[in-house]
Amino acid sequence: MPKFAFFKGQLVPIEEAKVSIMTHALNYGTGCFEGIRAYWNEDRGQLFVFRMQEHYERLRQSTRILFIELTYTTEQLCQTTLELLRKEGYRQDTYIRPLVYMADETIGVRLHNLQPELAIFAVPFGRYIEKEEGAHAGVSSWRRTDDNVAPARAKITGAYINSGLAKTEAVRNGFDEAIVLTNDGHVSEGSAENLFIVRNGALITPPITENILEGITRQTIIQLARDEMSLQVIERPIDRTELYVADEAFFCGTGVQVALITRIDHRPVGTGQPGPIGKALRDVYFDVVRGKLPKYNSWCTPVSS
Ligand SMILES: Cc1ncc(COP(=O)(O)O)c(C=O)c1O
Repeated sequence: MPKFAFFKGQLVPIEEAKVSIMTHALNYGTGCFEGIRAYWNEDRGQLFVFRMQEHYERLRQSTRILFIELTYTTEQLCQTTLELLRKEGYRQDTYIRPLVYMADETIGVRLHNLQPELAIFAVPFGRYIEKEEGAHAGVSSWRRTDDNVAPARAKITGAYINSGLAKTEAVRNGFDEAIVLTNDGHVSEGSAENLFIVRNGALITPPITENILEGITRQTIIQLARDEMSLQVIERPIDRTELYVADEAFFCGTGVQVALITRIDHRPVGTGQPGPIGKALRDVYFDVVRGKLPKYNSWCTPVSS
């Protein structure tokens, strides 16, 4: 359990960070959030927050879509997060959850005339899905929320019911994770992660117009694939059956990190074993997030000075 939280403008003991059952965001899902990871580097005795600035820029993007004026600068958000982590003193991998929520205790669904509040907490965190080296994914019967329904581009608390429905269906059906299609039947993403496939040596991922969250890990993987592995990366719509004939497939996201998919809908992906491209990208990703590749140190903010 965390010991502290940023709540109503200050760092407080976690027990004091409580909201009423009347809270607008609790009733109507009117909030937006981020998920940021910090990685412990044992050799350097240092916790590194990965791409913190980009996550807070995306939080700002979510607030814009929800008519919320975020009064904190990105620099203030980063400094507050570092202060919280220093107070917690974690020496292990950690997940940071910034949340902007409509704090009013009132009835009536809307986005205007409401008071947003910011909260941040951080918890020790390991794997998001157990089988990161070989997951079985199932195509969901639930479709991804459309940009004109509940925009996936924003990390909107209420919209995550779509992810919840897909995830629980997948797990109850014996899969590790869901793959969710758009309304017109193209591959969008996983329940809480972006998706890549490999065909003929090229890395392919749905473009940002396929109702995906514009993932920071997705962007990281695209850059690492091009710059570290000289791979061709193609952003284009993916048909469902391309999943069944792909040579490799993997999920990526802050939570899931890089999770290799070895089966989709009871069919082996490629050989049915973790593929070489996914494996290599996963390895380089973990080196980068732990601050082991100096070239990418600007992505890793040390918590202790
Ligand atoms: C729906 C969804 N897609 C993709 C991602 C991956 O995004 P990122 O890599 O920025 O964490 C997440 C997780 O944050 C997510 O919830």
